[in-house]
Amino acid sequence: MIYLGADHGGYALKEEIKAYLTEQEIPFVDCGTDSKDSVDYAPIAQKTCLKLLADPDKSSRAVLCCGTGIGISMAANKIHGIRAACCSDYFAAKYTRLHNDANVLCLGGRVVGAGLACELVDVFLHTDFEGGRHQRRIDQIAALENGENLNKA
Ligand code: RB5
Repeated sequence: MIYLGADHGGYALKEEIKAYLTEQEIPFVDCGTDSKDSVDYAPIAQKTCLKLLADPDKSSRAVLCCGTGIGISMAANKIHGIRAACCSDYFAAKYTRLHNDANVLCLGGRVVGAGLACELVDVFLHTDFEGGRHQRRIDQIAALENGENLNKA
């Protein structure tokens, strides 16, 4: 399942992504917002990410949109278990899956056009985590969430 969330700055792009996912027959849940009216991005990030984390299917992902993709990614990354990547190029969207096992893609509705955004969503959804040495680094990120010291002698 793909969980979608956006503030007003990302609303139009979210609607384009919904059309793309529908065309691709990829199921999604729209967690709002539902219009271009101004709304804060942190509650949307939280609502969307908590639905993702509650999904037992570990292949589920979320896509979050705000004006830049940055604010909503900052908010998402405060949530335990979320690895959100703000991407505006194909290489980053691909490698954040391969190397970072990102579970949330963040996009800027005022940064990327709909065509590029759908390409980014596509590669993000269809690229598997490589594991290996990258798993150790993901584990270190999880340790940071738990307040562990990664630099103890
Ligand atoms: C809203 O105007 C804008 O600040 C927001 O969508 C986002 O770009 C924040 O990072």
